[in-house]
Amino acid sequence: MGDTVVNINQLVKRYRENVAVDHFSLEVKKGEILGLLGPNGSGKTTTISCLLSLLSYDKGEISIFGKPMSPTAYDIKNKIGIVMQNVAVVNTLTVEENISFFCGLYVRDRLLRKQYTEEAMEFCGLTDYRRQFPKKLSGGLLRRLNIACGIAHKPELIIFDEPTVAIDPQSRNAILEGIREMNRNGATIIYTSHYMEEVEELCSRIVIMDHGKNVAEGTAASLKASLRNRETICIELPVRDPETIRGLSEINHVYDVREDKDSILIRCDGGEHNLVHIINYLVEHNLPFGRVTTALPTLNDVFLEITGKELRD
Ligand SMILES: Nc1ncnc2c1ncn2[C@@H]1O[C@H](COP(=O)(O)OP(=O)(O)O)[C@@H](O)[C@H]1O
Ligand SMILES: [Mg+2]
Repeated sequence: MGDTVVNINQLVKRYRENVAVDHFSLEVKKGEILGLLGPNGSGKTTTISCLLSLLSYDKGEISIFGKPMSPTAYDIKNKIGIVMQNVAVVNTLTVEENISFFCGLYVRDRLLRKQYTEEAMEFCGLTDYRRQFPKKLSGGLLRRLNIACGIAHKPELIIFDEPTVAIDPQSRNAILEGIREMNRNGATIIYTSHYMEEVEELCSRIVIMDHGKNVAEGTAASLKASLRNRETICIELPVRDPETIRGLSEINHVYDVREDKDSILIRCDGGEHNLVHIINYLVEHNLPFGRVTTALPTLNDVFLEITGKELRD
């Protein structure tokens, strides 16, 4: 297919007896921002490392830009930008020198490299810090430098592995906006994260990963539409007994009732006026309640319904 950028077919990667990636398949089309969403340890980084031939694997086929990927496929590698989870910059080089160095791995022409370095600094908001050394930078700036080093050569495919973990909201927003702009400029993006809000906000399509498997894929809207869950009602209810929980469970359209500290979480699978029926029940049974909120399904609900556990850690 002409517009397929990445094709991973039935990838298996084991670390001794631990199956980190388990028959995982993924197709990414040109122009997509593909979100790879999964909890810590689900196999995202391992998949990316295999995709880039940084790691050998046990089974499966990987092709990028329609050609088989291999450790020596330099024509493919030249067109890929990588921003890995662990910041990898040279501590003895300044911000500007770092970007120029990494850009120089792909771009030989000196003038062009200088121009690209300048543009990457500008793009990542690092121009004011060009003569600083990485050790002097805050966490957010260091992440931005890591990104600038990965994208300066203007790659067609850019892979971000959890680029916003443990950074301030301002840097985070700058990074997400930067990724959108790279995508508007034509780059295909693979973005891994365990933050569902972020993936939902940024990505045109989402693949949910758990225990090395591709457990669901689609747009945020189509994933949610496939759910049984239509509404989750949260009620502060400090005083309750098993009878209350059972009674609430038996209300029409309620399919799951969970206790969470002072509150109960009630999941409904459709219907109208669910809240009214639930409140009526509490009033009829003389059960004093506090704050009531209702929420539409989230990607966490998608994950919960598929895997039986919460995505949040
Ligand atoms: N170098 C390694 N050696 C052994 N096991 C590893 C190594 N890297 C990752 N793993 C294991 O592989 C699984 C997937 O890890 P990883 O790909 O890092 O997940 P994620 O990036 O989604 O957090 C985990 O069980 C992890 O403990
Ligand atoms: Mg990881």
